[in-house]
Amino acid sequence: MTDPPTGTTPWADLLRRVIGLTAEDLRGPELFGRIADLVARTTEADVCFVHVVDAGASDLVLAGATPPFEHLVGTIRLKVGEGIAGWVAEQGEPALVSDKWDDPRYHYIPALRGEDFSSMVSVPLLRERKRVIGVMNLHSRRPGHFGEEEVRHLQEVAHLVAGIAQTAILYERLATKEVELSRFAARTIELQEHDRRRLAGEIHDGISQPLVSAWYHLRAARASAPEGTVSEELVSIETLVSNALDEARRATIGLRPAVLDDLGLAAGLRSLAAGLSGLEVELDVDVDLEERSAGLAPHVETAVYRVAQEALQNVQKHACSTMVRILLHRRAGGLELSVIDDGLGFEPPDQPKPASYGLEGMRERAALLGARLEVRSVPGRGTTVRLLVPTSHLFEAAGAAAPPP
Ligand SMILES: Nc1ncnc2c1ncn2[C@@H]1O[C@H](COP(=O)(O)OP(=O)(O)OP(=O)(O)O)[C@@H](O)[C@H]1O
Ligand SMILES: [Mg+2]
Repeated sequence: MTDPPTGTTPWADLLRRVIGLTAEDLRGPELFGRIADLVARTTEADVCFVHVVDAGASDLVLAGATPPFEHLVGTIRLKVGEGIAGWVAEQGEPALVSDKWDDPRYHYIPALRGEDFSSMVSVPLLRERKRVIGVMNLHSRRPGHFGEEEVRHLQEVAHLVAGIAQTAILYERLATKEVELSRFAARTIELQEHDRRRLAGEIHDGISQPLVSAWYHLRAARASAPEGTVSEELVSIETLVSNALDEARRATIGLRPAVLDDLGLAAGLRSLAAGLSGLEVELDVDVDLEERSAGLAPHVETAVYRVAQEALQNVQKHACSTMVRILLHRRAGGLELSVIDDGLGFEPPDQPKPASYGLEGMRERAALLGARLEVRSVPGRGTTVRLLVPTSHLFEAAGAAAPPP
């Protein structure tokens, strides 16, 4: 250890250094490893272990260790109440042990090489109302290495470490929850798409196919009827069947956007734009998003596509607009989709209109993605639908790397 600045004791210096760690934005094993290292050096202990109580409050999990035990972090679990550290976690009191082989509480864990060490001190990491959130253990080869004074000072250090550990633990749990939430969103969107595909299959097999047969039969009937005997009725039935077939085809294509799976979001938007009629369309997509390898999670692509699809359907159905702009850009905060028309606009209702699911569905998709959806509309001055998916939610949850900005 480098000499502490003049006028400070090694313990004050240790506290100062532990506080200094908070400015380094460290997490998990690295944070606890650095704490263990600092404490071991000050106390001249041979090893230091930091264990934290797990979410179920039943086990102590090794969260940080000095060399050569760092690789065991996360793999060693002790029951609260088991061994000296378990006793400390249960009682919320420190334990000073001058030779652990004489201590009935001692529990041998081969991986931690207890046979190499003799004396130890264990202090609880305490939070409000003496709640134990972990334990710090120091071991020495020398019997009687630690004394009451060390215990006193270590309790002060442990008090500081407990605050830092609490923040780190909450951060980790929050990060885990975020990953779970993102997996849940992906799974839900996947299931919705699965249902849509099933429906598309049913429309195809149960409606489109019979309509195609009916259309052929009508054609044949018309062709074989003597000249001048085809009734107007027969012609209009044929037109109706043909229109119904077009509708069914459109519904199937809308339900199952194969282009999205095959070519990605930009191509999906392009195919939506191509399907619009009677409108001038501007499509502007950032160059890197044109690549299939833009790295967006598939469920994000699907959700963005579905929001664009509904927004464009609304433009076509309600806006009486002359043009529509579809923008897909990377912003500082994430990915932004905008669908902008210059049509009639509307007064966004406080409550969804009965039998209107489009805007509500867009909001639900956005919420599932952890995204923000804005619908701005002024009667007579057009409508803008904007979806912002935060960067942290754009990629696969399971550690998939984000592409370079
Ligand atoms: N771009 C737009 N321009 C003008 N009016 C719009 C636009 N988008 C939505 N609206 C208005 O908002 C209402 C609600 O839209 P929403 O998408 O929720 O339902 P819908 O399109 O009527 O039905 P659904 O989407 O369920 O088939 C629409 O009926 C329409 O009056
Ligand atoms: Mg709609």
